[in-house]
Amino acid sequence: MNIEDIRKELQQILGAKRFQHSLSTAEMAVLLSKRHGVSPEKAELAAILHDCAKGYSIHEMREQIEIYQVELDEVERKEPGLWHAPLSAIMARVRFNVHDEDILQAIQIHSTGDQGMSVLDKIIYVSDYIEYHRKHLKVEDIRELAPYNLNLAVLMTINIKITYLLEQEVLIHPRSIVARNDLLAQGVKK
Ligand SMILES: [Fe+2]
Ligand SMILES: [Fe+2]
Repeated sequence: MNIEDIRKELQQILGAKRFQHSLSTAEMAVLLSKRHGVSPEKAELAAILHDCAKGYSIHEMREQIEIYQVELDEVERKEPGLWHAPLSAIMARVRFNVHDEDILQAIQIHSTGDQGMSVLDKIIYVSDYIEYHRKHLKVEDIRELAPYNLNLAVLMTINIKITYLLEQEVLIHPRSIVARNDLLAQGVKK
């Protein structure tokens, strides 16, 4: 499936707002990929598909998880907000015929982060947060920083997301903590 066909299909299965978010995330990911020496084609594909399962309701997601036998860990099982990332990776493989493991991994961990993130993983993680339609906290600072210091951009994004989850009193996936520890242990700081 070429990128044009993927775009058309996504437009059908995602609402207008999510489709726009996917396109904008891809635009940001391509920009960052050129700055950080990653294949722009891979970045575009991973970014455009990163939320491809997000058009489903929770009920439908639960069905898809059954059908595709998506393995969820204990925290993921309890937190529906975490379902769309692993499900999007499975859909990218079976529905959109993507078999590049680098791309699938970047989709899989785009909402939590993980230990030992690749440059592509980091680009997708950050692009999702700072694409041009986003108006989150500190988004402009991170947008300015990301082309120059991707690691710090990831750390700042993780910090903001974890702070938000703490305030919401929802579960925090251990992968987010591990990802943050990993960056700090590497000496990433402001
Ligand atoms: Fe997402
Ligand atoms: Fe997203």
